[in-house]
Amino acid sequence: MPSYFVTGTDTGAGKTYATCVLLHYARAQGLTAAGIKAVAAGTDARGRNEDVEAIRAASCPALPDDLLNPYCFTPPIAPHIAAREAGTVIRFARIREALRQAERRADCVLVEGAGGFRIPLGPEGDSADLAVVLGCPVILVVGMRLGAINHALLTAEAIAARGLALAGWIANAIDPTMSRPEENFTTLETLIPAPCLGRIPHASSADPANAALQTTIFLATAPGGKRIHEGKDEAARSAPSCDIKRYE
Ligand SMILES: Nc1ncnc2c1ncn2[C@@H]1O[C@H](COP(=O)(O)OP(=O)(O)O)[C@@H](O)[C@H]1O
Ligand SMILES: [Mg+2]
Repeated sequence: MPSYFVTGTDTGAGKTYATCVLLHYARAQGLTAAGIKAVAAGTDARGRNEDVEAIRAASCPALPDDLLNPYCFTPPIAPHIAAREAGTVIRFARIREALRQAERRADCVLVEGAGGFRIPLGPEGDSADLAVVLGCPVILVVGMRLGAINHALLTAEAIAARGLALAGWIANAIDPTMSRPEENFTTLETLIPAPCLGRIPHASSADPANAALQTTIFLATAPGGKRIHEGKDEAARSAPSCDIKRYE
């Protein structure tokens, strides 16, 4: 089961949310699943970053902090600027090492990038360069809203241009007021040169554990990949709720 690099059509597309949904899926399949937030920017008064905490909560086993989140910066700004201001260089080898160590602890490891696919990370390159160094197939989270088709197609092109495998894409219903969601979905299905791995509905509670039960996910199509979950599975469907403790 390969690891995956999770990218998105933009910041706010739902990368963290989809990562958490996928982690819950993998765990529901009896796998151990852990997420990594490679580079985070923006912390609260206690020095905690929202994405890191969401991924920690969805992971089992939870990784130690240095693997879970190799780089974290205080201000909620572009990471290459935050790194420069902190006098830090984001080293891709350190993130790759975190991934390798995580892979020894969990069956399934998902690495969430920062922002969109071409977000700069510093002297070693951008998020796309990081994905190349990590060498994982990519999952593209499409935040379903006006403008997403263009962002999705450009991102798919950028992934292919680097010789990376696009394992597939996920339609995340980020905007419940989006017009013509089905037509947009069909257009994306036709134009993205990779399968749709799942559709995540808009959830009023924004609880990824519950969303995991309403989503159909396939991770079968990446080279060497295998199906980790099928949301239409009867057992999953009939489960009264997705209690995180069930998977601990
Ligand atoms: N399917 C969804 N239903 C409801 N809220 C969502 C959904 N996907 C994302 N969100 C919310 O939208 C915001 C942005 O999502 P997030 O996963 O943080 O995006 P990204 O990681 O790409 O920046 C978060 O507040 C998240 O809880
Ligand atoms: Mg995020």
